[in-house]
Amino acid sequence: MKILEPTQFFLAISLASVVSSNQLLPSFLTQRNSKSNSGAQKPIMNIPNIALPPSRQDNPSVADSGSIIISDVIAKDRAINIFAGFTRDIQSIAERLADKSQNTTVLAPLNSAVTSLPQKPWEDQRDYAVLGEAAYDGSDGEDRAHRNLRSFVEAHVIALSPWKEGEKVETLGGGRKIWWENEDGKKMLRPDNIEVSSIADRVSNGEVWILKEVLPPT
Ligand SMILES: *[C@@H]1O[C@H](CO)[C@@H](O)[C@H](O)[C@H]1NC(C)=O
Repeated sequence: MKILEPTQFFLAISLASVVSSNQLLPSFLTQRNSKSNSGAQKPIMNIPNIALPPSRQDNPSVADSGSIIISDVIAKDRAINIFAGFTRDIQSIAERLADKSQNTTVLAPLNSAVTSLPQKPWEDQRDYAVLGEAAYDGSDGEDRAHRNLRSFVEAHVIALSPWKEGEKVETLGGGRKIWWENEDGKKMLRPDNIEVSSIADRVSNGEVWILKEVLPPT
């Protein structure tokens, strides 16, 4: 089990943005998923072993619009499909977004915000400081990367919706509170002053907001 080189990671990311498919994830995550498929030989770009949301409609045209949930819609917006892929790989988040009984506000950074980070969302300079260049090698490294990715995703998920202006809430990652305010017709997330470029979806179990930048980790 070997983590792919950063260039291959970015190949997976850019494929994810052009193909806009549910199946593509950063390669180390795809490999992790294939590990649990006992013994079967899997191609690198296989379909992640993530249960489909129980509410998934085979024929959306006949779906009652009131029953549409975040997990049905989040993958459809190409501008945020890198982050959408991350939410599907973190099981607790995937389950939450597929749960009709829990409301969620997802603060999804644009693909461009994720790819312009100085490091990958699953990298942490503290890991490199302690462990050196091999920080993400082997299965321990893979676990470390997955943990970091979970923190990244959890910093972008709020366990309530609707979210009122000025209402201070902890992100799922915990540790800090954020809120939003209207300023000159723009929605701004505080205290980081990150602009919400639009609200992509409003569905029965919450909303997907699109952020111009990523939120700092907790
Ligand atoms: C969940 O979101 C829906 C849709 O916005 C809303 O009607 C409902 O009141 C929310 N439920 C809770 C508990 O906030």
